Amino acid sequence: MNGENWINEVLRERATIAPSLLASDFANLERELHKLEEGGVKVAHIDVMDGRLVPNISVGVPVVSSIRKVTTLKLDVHLMIVEPERYIEAFRNAGADFISIHIEASPCPTAALNRIRELGAVPGLVLNYGTPVEKILPFAHEADILLVMSVPAGFGGQKFHYDALESVRALRKAARPDALIEIDGGIDVNTIGAAAEAGVNLFVAGTSVFHSQDYGAQVSLLRKIALDAASKKRAV
Ligand code: DX5
Ligand code: ZN
Repeated sequence: MNGENWINEVLRERATIAPSLLASDFANLERELHKLEEGGVKVAHIDVMDGRLVPNISVGVPVVSSIRKVTTLKLDVHLMIVEPERYIEAFRNAGADFISIHIEASPCPTAALNRIRELGAVPGLVLNYGTPVEKILPFAHEADILLVMSVPAGFGGQKFHYDALESVRALRKAARPDALIEIDGGIDVNTIGAAAEAGVNLFVAGTSVFHSQDYGAQVSLLRKIALDAASKKRAV
């Protein structure tokens, strides 16, 4: 399935959960990925951090490439790095299906987003928690995915910030109708409903999936809560 079809698939599903591997057992990544596949998951979120854009370091190109060899999951690669333009091609060659860059790292992201698309991946643009939404609005229609951070980027397991949903609502209006709105940080059974109501359709969830006993059951539960909240909103 190419990038465009994948966007349509997520739009059709209305709520798609992308488990963030940052909270997984890195010593047993293959096993973790297979548990996600068996649980019906279709997309895994990979956090790439350089210790410069964010105060933490995680994984890079070789890890994405190793993951690509052992899974059929779509790989949603979240680049929390400065000068992401330099690495887009390498991550695409490593097997990234979605590639998201931060507006804080690329204040004029047009060329980079186009490059991601040219390489056959789905381009995403990220707004960190705390950055005014106005910074990203002029480029909102240029991305296929708009990712709103609901925690300051850099670490898993942080508390969800409800005021990030203001940015979600603003971006829902500014984005193309067929763009995905993704949220990342602190998504669990208590917070996902509000995010769905605000217009999110792609939900990153790290701790709440990988600290659960049964990944598939947890992902289904999260999805059900999101769908219920979104349909209640529509009924109002
Ligand atoms: C944080 C990362 C997130 C993180 C989410 O900078 O971008 O993807 O893994 O983890 P939870 O769901 O635990 O907040
Ligand atoms: Zn992330």
